[in-house]
Amino acid sequence: MSVKTVVSIVGARPQFIKAAPVSRALASSFKEILVHTGQHYDYGMSEIFFSEMEMRPPDFNLGVGGGTHGEQTGRMLIELERVLVQAAADCVLVYGDTNSTLAGALVAAKAGIPLAHVEAGLRSYNRAMPEELNRIVTDRLSSLLFCPTDAAVVNLEKEGIKEGVHRVGDVMYDALLHNLERAHKHSKILDQLGLRKGEYALATVHRAGNTDYADRMRSILNGLGSLSTRVIFPVHPRTRRMMDEWGLSADSNVSVIDPVGPFDILVLQENANCILTDSGGMQKEAYLLGVRCITLREETEWVETVSTGWNRLAGVDAETICQLYETWHPQGEQPPLYGEGRAAGQILAALLEELK
Ligand code: UD1
Repeated sequence: MSVKTVVSIVGARPQFIKAAPVSRALASSFKEILVHTGQHYDYGMSEIFFSEMEMRPPDFNLGVGGGTHGEQTGRMLIELERVLVQAAADCVLVYGDTNSTLAGALVAAKAGIPLAHVEAGLRSYNRAMPEELNRIVTDRLSSLLFCPTDAAVVNLEKEGIKEGVHRVGDVMYDALLHNLERAHKHSKILDQLGLRKGEYALATVHRAGNTDYADRMRSILNGLGSLSTRVIFPVHPRTRRMMDEWGLSADSNVSVIDPVGPFDILVLQENANCILTDSGGMQKEAYLLGVRCITLREETEWVETVSTGWNRLAGVDAETICQLYETWHPQGEQPPLYGEGRAAGQILAALLEELK
């Protein structure tokens, strides 16, 4: 029996984390061609993830870079089509909800190549988010849908998508389990920043729905500035650009630092007294690490982190952020919402069955 070819398409920071465990699992049974669209290209947003997580370099880097949604996605479509034709792919694997996901899905579906979506079925029910549109289209085009949660399966059912749906758990949990010990060994971030466990909060903001509105960013920064703790704030390039544009700066209790790699972010999260974020991945990682999370959005796709009592949706109101930080301390249990850390193995099993 000849070895089948799976093309994995990644491009943005969270996708490198999700693809790493899947690539390790695929290695035993498939030829994997890894394509990086180049959506993220700074060392700290891309290469450090490959080196720390011991991923082999991508087979293709399309160097697409930034731009408007149309420019970025359009360039990806052109380049990805070339690569997929050349690769004679038996299956295309896309991750999450970025423009790289959408482009990969469109090209694969139009080329008649079976499409598999890792992190299928997530919905915020807010179509103003580019990610929501990317998810809806990608799920609609996929023949294999790998859901991280029960809620994701239900969301797909509501849209009439029932075939090819597999509830496999969350590959980010696989990644966390794989990386945590190595992060403890290699990360020096606590010493570098002079931090001790429980004595600081960690904040990140990068969603366009926050960064692209001066009043929302100002309100978030006011909220962080009013906390009775030091706040470590690794700043995404989008966020930095917009803060510069509006002349916004952080208060003196907030340490603004460059984006950090996968080891440092895990260690920073694990030791924080609270995580304040608009990132989806960090809401889950907070839960998995047993750290309370204040989400700087009005809604979340990761609804089970809220219903179990570990995550609160603050939006961007400075007073609400501060009040939650000072007064809210969850104590509930943490049931295994995201599987057992074996999602990648289940994805492999489903692909073997489907492509045999
Ligand atoms: C993208 C995803 C988002 C994901 C996030 C993770 C979409 C629509 N959004 O948002 O879902 O949560 O990645 O970070 O795909 N930039 C740099 N250097 C880089 C990367 C980006 O300077 O390495 C700049 C870009 O040029 C652009 C801005 O940052 O001006 C935003 O980058 P972009 O790729 O458009 O989306 P993200 O905001 O990162």
